[in-house]
Amino acid sequence: MKGVLFNVVQEVVEETYGEDTWDDLLDDAGLEGAYTALGDYPDHELVALVAAASLRTGLGPDAVLRTVGRLALPRLLDRLPPTVPLADEPMAFVRSVNDIIHPEVLKLYPASHPPVFDCKDDGDGLMVRYRSTRRLPDLAHGLLEAVDDHFEQSVSVERIADDDEANAVFLVRVGEA
Ligand code: HEM
Repeated sequence: MKGVLFNVVQEVVEETYGEDTWDDLLDDAGLEGAYTALGDYPDHELVALVAAASLRTGLGPDAVLRTVGRLALPRLLDRLPPTVPLADEPMAFVRSVNDIIHPEVLKLYPASHPPVFDCKDDGDGLMVRYRSTRRLPDLAHGLLEAVDDHFEQSVSVERIADDDEANAVFLVRVGEA
C-alpha cells in the first residue's frame, strides 16, 4: 500500500486523538512508521495498525476502518493537484472515483493499485461494486460515507451485498438520511 495512505491515516489519528496515540499504535503494532508518500509498504502493516486501534478503542476493526475512511477523504482530496476536475454533485463525484480520481492517482503514484468501483444506475440510486484483492471494503464504505460531509448534502450509503470477504456492493442515494 502506498505510503500516502499511511500518511493520511497518521494525520487522522493525530488530529483526532493526539500525536502520542499514533506513537502508541506504532508501538503496539511493532512498526517503525517512517512512511513516505511514494513508498510502498506491506498491507499487513495497515491491518496491524487497525488491530491496535481496535484493541485500544474497543471498536471492531471494521468500524475503525470505516471511521478512518470517513475522516480521510478531505485529506486525500487535498493531495490531488488542483488541475484535477472535481465533480460538483455527490453522484457524479462517486462515479468519478473510478473514472477520474484513481486514474489520476495512478499518474501521481506509479505502481499503485487502487481498487475498482463499478457504478451502475439503479432506479433507487447508484449501485457501486467495490473490487480489490486488498479486502478493504470497510475503508471504501467510510470514504463513500464522507461524500455526505464533502457536499454538505444528505447522502446515504448502504452495504447491500458481499460477493465474498473481499468485495462488496453499496447502494448510494442522495437526499436520504
Ligand atoms: C470517495 C472517494 C474514494 C474512495 C471510495 C476510495 C477508495 C479507496 C480504497 C478502498 C483504497 C484501498 C485499497 C483497496 O481497497 O484496494 C484506496 C486506495 C488508494 N486511494 Fe482511494 N478512494 C477515494 C478517493 C481517493 C482520493 C481523493 C485519492 C487522492 C490521493 C485517493 C488515493 C488513493 C491511493 C494513493 C490509494 C493506494 C493505492 C495503492 O497503494 O496501491 N483515493 N482508495
